[in-house]
Amino acid sequence: MSLQKALFLQEKFGSFAVGAKDVPTPGAGELLVRIEATALNPVDWKIQKYGRWIEKYPAILGCEVAGTVEYVGEGVTGFSKGDRVVCEGWLTSDRASFQQYAITDAEVTGKIPPHISFEQAASISGGIATAGLGLYADVDPAGRGGAGLFPPWEVGGRNKYAGKPILVLGGASSVGQYVIQLARLSGFFPIISTASLHNEDLLKSLGATHVIDRKLPFEGFQVALTSLLTSPLEIVYDAISVPDTQQAGYDLLAPGGTLAVTLAITAKIDLQANKRVFQVFGNVYEPTTRKISVDLFGSLEGLLATGDIKPNPVRVLPDGLLGIPGGLKELEENKVSGVKLIARPQDTPQ
Ligand SMILES: NC(=O)c1ccc[n+]([C@@H]2O[C@H](COP(=O)([O-])OP(=O)(O)OC[C@H]3O[C@@H](n4cnc5c(N)ncnc54)[C@H](OP(=O)(O)O)[C@@H]3O)[C@@H](O)[C@H]2O)c1
Repeated sequence: MSLQKALFLQEKFGSFAVGAKDVPTPGAGELLVRIEATALNPVDWKIQKYGRWIEKYPAILGCEVAGTVEYVGEGVTGFSKGDRVVCEGWLTSDRASFQQYAITDAEVTGKIPPHISFEQAASISGGIATAGLGLYADVDPAGRGGAGLFPPWEVGGRNKYAGKPILVLGGASSVGQYVIQLARLSGFFPIISTASLHNEDLLKSLGATHVIDRKLPFEGFQVALTSLLTSPLEIVYDAISVPDTQQAGYDLLAPGGTLAVTLAITAKIDLQANKRVFQVFGNVYEPTTRKISVDLFGSLEGLLATGDIKPNPVRVLPDGLLGIPGGLKELEENKVSGVKLIARPQDTPQ
């Protein structure tokens, strides 16, 4: 069995260190992917800081795999060694992405067209899953899931919601950028988003029709939003989901409307208001949203090839896995705007 390098969070609330571990062997339905690029997510620093979601240490973090197929597991069709692929990682030793090789499930692994680099591809999986499941999955019995809209990657899905407005809070975030693009494919109009105004051109290039300064106080925001609406605002996607943005999203939603949040629900719910709020779970390994995840990742190569979906702008960190802890600090300190931080595990120095 060969060895690879991995970045270990050594203990709960502990520090990171690069060490060696076995390269895993894929089982039936799985792929072994050589990870050329991975991306950093807020959940990675939150695990280290708050000690949540993981109990077994040392642990490997990282939820974004982009690379080449190294080994094809039993029963897998449609993939060969050397294929360029993208997939969500997961927080287990063999599936986390802050290492040089990881296992993925073939049916939720997408192919990357030639014009997309591995670094760009690493920005896609978690963001598009969270955006796509949040908009198009159904709500599960636990109250998590999505708004239940009809997806644009299905026949008859393009422009299905033409003329309906959508508000995307935090459009410059990784998730927000994919929500805007999917909303554009679904035909929503206008697509109104909040961001720092230096990100206005980026958001408009993705499909936002209007960008409102995210630092406006609520009253000013409400006036600006209302002036842009010609029909009731029935869907709000809050990609940020801190208490202030959730409450603003809830208050601005029309009766009968739906608010998607990406963190635990904190908005004060008015039972008389007839507004639905749910927490998105952007995880392709979740059984309740598996079917739609398979369809989304099966459609990804085509969506990227046509330019219907564009990756996030990216910034590559130095020194492979060793660059990740510094990048997570930048994320935690809100120093990253409009770009996804990327690491190249194969560049880790000896
Ligand atoms: N439920 C799930 O399955 C799931 C999955 C993925 C992520 N998440 C959560 O979703 C959130 C977003 O994740 P991400 O990876 O997309 O984040 P990200 O890319 O790290 O977000 C950074 C961006 O957030 C924007 N921002 C920060 N505060 C804002 C505010 N008050 N209003 C509007 N924009 C604001 C900034 O925009 P400007 O630069 O324009 O100021 C910045 O560019 C995180 O809390 C993450 O933990 C949940």
